[in-house]
Amino acid sequence: MARADTLPAKPSSLLRFITCGSVDDGKSTLIGRLLYDCKGIFDDQLAALERDSKTSGTQAGAIDLALLTDGLAAEREQGITIDVAYRYFATEKRAFIVADTPGHEQYTRNMITGASTADLAVILIDARKGVLVQTRRHTYLVSLMGIRKVVLAVNKMDLVDYSQATFDQINNDYTAFAAQIGLEVVAIPLSSLKGDNVTACSERMPWYQGPALLAYLETVDIAVSGQSAPFRLCVQWVSRPDQNFRGFAGFVSSGEIRPGDRVRALPSGRESQVARIVTYDGDLAHAAAGESVTLTLTHEIDIGRGDVIAAADRPPMVADQFNTTVMWMSDADLLPGRPYLLKIGARTVSATVTAIKHKVNVNTLNHSAAKTLALNEIGVANIQVAHPIPFDAFSENKETGSFILIDRMSNDTVGAGLIQFALRRSQNVHWQAVEVNKPARSALKNQKACVLWFTGLSGAGKSTIANAVEKQLLALGRHTYLLDGDNVRHGLNRDLGFTDADRVENIRRVAEVAKLMTDAGLIVLVSFISPFRAERELARALFEPGEFLEIFIDVPLAEAEKRDPKGLYQRARRGEIANFTGISSAYEVPEAPDLRIDTTRGTAVDAADAILAKLRELELLTADF
Ligand code: ADX
Repeated sequence: MARADTLPAKPSSLLRFITCGSVDDGKSTLIGRLLYDCKGIFDDQLAALERDSKTSGTQAGAIDLALLTDGLAAEREQGITIDVAYRYFATEKRAFIVADTPGHEQYTRNMITGASTADLAVILIDARKGVLVQTRRHTYLVSLMGIRKVVLAVNKMDLVDYSQATFDQINNDYTAFAAQIGLEVVAIPLSSLKGDNVTACSERMPWYQGPALLAYLETVDIAVSGQSAPFRLCVQWVSRPDQNFRGFAGFVSSGEIRPGDRVRALPSGRESQVARIVTYDGDLAHAAAGESVTLTLTHEIDIGRGDVIAAADRPPMVADQFNTTVMWMSDADLLPGRPYLLKIGARTVSATVTAIKHKVNVNTLNHSAAKTLALNEIGVANIQVAHPIPFDAFSENKETGSFILIDRMSNDTVGAGLIQFALRRSQNVHWQAVEVNKPARSALKNQKACVLWFTGLSGAGKSTIANAVEKQLLALGRHTYLLDGDNVRHGLNRDLGFTDADRVENIRRVAEVAKLMTDAGLIVLVSFISPFRAERELARALFEPGEFLEIFIDVPLAEAEKRDPKGLYQRARRGEIANFTGISSAYEVPEAPDLRIDTTRGTAVDAADAILAKLRELELLTADF
């Protein structure tokens, strides 16, 4: 999400808004006209704001101006590739920052970024086209992002003969939709090309009694958000402990702070008191949302990068499972069970979507069941993170209540999300500590527990080789268990097919089962195609270092197809089996397997010998306890 610049001390003279429209709705012309007509006083205003920033204590002006230049850089740092232009203009009554976002559908992410800092949205409609799916999508997104006021700018009225009937029709259509999601709408008929009702009222639409767009923007009442929100500083940097000075640097995302204020660090919950507020220009007596500062505390408490320093009596919550709304922005579907990185404030943690509750049809607002989310889809999903994190509900705090999801392999931002609430079970389900543990159980079996994870195409020989390895281990008196894809799919995983989403869940379950079996002290052999890197990494992450061996049973596709032991390749080629690995579904070759077996050379027994040699080399077969 974009950096929060919800200024608690926002001057009443500043309005941030976002413009949304489809391609060719006339957005650039409209913004151009506003900029052009207001330009005369632009320089004065700029100077005044700069002056204010030097003389007033709040520095609000300085922040706003800095935002214009820093905005892009800051948001890049947040991991979103941004294509939002922030433009600035002013009249005598008010200063404006407008986020201009490209209208193509694939630019949803830009819209979300622009909307995250806006007080109001101007939704453009081409009077000839009326309310489009795109219009509804934009409207839904801005409402999700917490915007409550919308101007419906019905543009190109000149091309419909300034017809009141056309305007009324569009207004009615739109207002009915917007009312369902709690938006307050003011509709204005205009022509940005001809200048009707943009900066001055038009005589060509005598039937319209309301204000021109600019007059409305100048006077619209905007609730000053964030003013009463409690203090939150997301710690981005901690000075090294060997220095005398121990400061916590970060961005104040809401509220305000003074030396002497009591604060609490999250997730630890430890309390302290602010000693100093340090900046490059000297100490401050006060800092507020939008500023980057360094705090020192009166007594030392343990605080790390990514922690949140908050008002002691109004701290954020801490949890590891959430109900969220996710907006998906990647060509590759969101897959429940797949590990992503979740970035919230200055913290990044591993996260998986545990369930998609439903997705929302932005056109009808209907909910429907979903197993995945595709590009531009919006859904409500439960998310689990690897460690408890501090957060606020999005409705309470935009910055500490929103996050982005990042693909672990490509590092791309693939989704944006808002936290509704923590799932209570995350507070109530605790890991049960047991006294008879893995070392005790493996010692009794006189072995080291580990996982041999066989991956490769269907027909590569995974099961044959795993079987040969298990026989050799048995002969050595080891306690083993072989989990085979075909077999597990008959029982535990019989509800799963071969879509990407199902394969992810297939691997997640078998990895968890393998973990339990290792915990029982067994040497576990897992023979699953496991075609995706992300899930093999997820599996590896469940185990202790050195406990998980990825064994790549390598075979050229042509060779596997020639062998075709079950006749499946032939059927897949005939189109009788969908999503067949290697043919109509991807196999992601392991980049750094612990062992690679070339099955075009040697027999299954040779392969098993090589694997046992590897186990000896890694001292996994030494039995001295
Ligand atoms: S995985 O991709 O989810 O890891 P898994 O190893 O459990 O796959 O199951 C693969 C086995 O299912 C194959 O050996 C083959 O016998 C059978 N199978 C049936 N349909 C498919 C398919 N579409 N793609 C791959 N294997 C399939």
